[in-house]
Amino acid sequence: MSLKNRLAKLIIDPAFRNPGLMQMIFEIDDATGIDLVKTLSPFKLMPASAELFQRSFAHFVAGEEISYACATGLAAIAPDPVSKRYLLIQAGEEMTHLNHFNTKLQQFGLGETRIAKFVSPGFKKFGETIQKRVEAGDYVSAMVGNNVIVEGLAICLLELGCRELRDNSDEISKFLDFVLEDERHHVRFGEKRLKAWNAWGLVDERQVEDFYGEMWSYVVEAINDIPDVVESMGLKPSALLRDAKAYFEARFAGADLAITA
Ligand SMILES: [Fe+2]
Ligand SMILES: [Fe+2]
Repeated sequence: MSLKNRLAKLIIDPAFRNPGLMQMIFEIDDATGIDLVKTLSPFKLMPASAELFQRSFAHFVAGEEISYACATGLAAIAPDPVSKRYLLIQAGEEMTHLNHFNTKLQQFGLGETRIAKFVSPGFKKFGETIQKRVEAGDYVSAMVGNNVIVEGLAICLLELGCRELRDNSDEISKFLDFVLEDERHHVRFGEKRLKAWNAWGLVDERQVEDFYGEMWSYVVEAINDIPDVVESMGLKPSALLRDAKAYFEARFAGADLAITA
């Protein structure tokens, strides 16, 4: 481990473990007008500026809200009892993730309803679009939208991004891995169910392709809305788009669907 990572760990781990310390840093920022967090962030001693930090969290919170609502809706329209049970468990896990992110924001003194104002317009379209499919009883599209696209994007952000943050803090790694473990299961469930439904002839490949095309346009819009947030997670928007597309299409290939956006 590099000296820089060791030094960063000395600062970030206690701050993340004892949120009062981070709250104090944010309060000093507010009181003095000196963005201490931003000053330290180029050295990767802090996650980002206070505002970027809050905006990153705001998108995770929004993502969990979308997944919670969609998993609940999917459970209601799931055609078989096993899927229904799994989706209810998933909804419970999404609620836990939502609390996980919200609790940390509140401990840092950043949790307020105003985080909703940080969420990019493109991001908001994910939930609205999937919810329409749930209401229409279109189980396959809703599953693709939530368990492949929204959850898959979370995996890309948490796995491909945050590398430097992870190197600099065991506490942040633990915090992110708690959510990531569940999201991997949720995406795997989506891919396996899609494969089974496809094998039974219940998937209209063209319809999935059209819906994926629509969702993909929102992914592009969302990522282009928040390039600074994406960059604060150590990712370039163009590289994230390339990798996310490859990730989604590998899931479709896993379900024996040759689909591309
Ligand atoms: Fe989640
Ligand atoms: Fe999930």
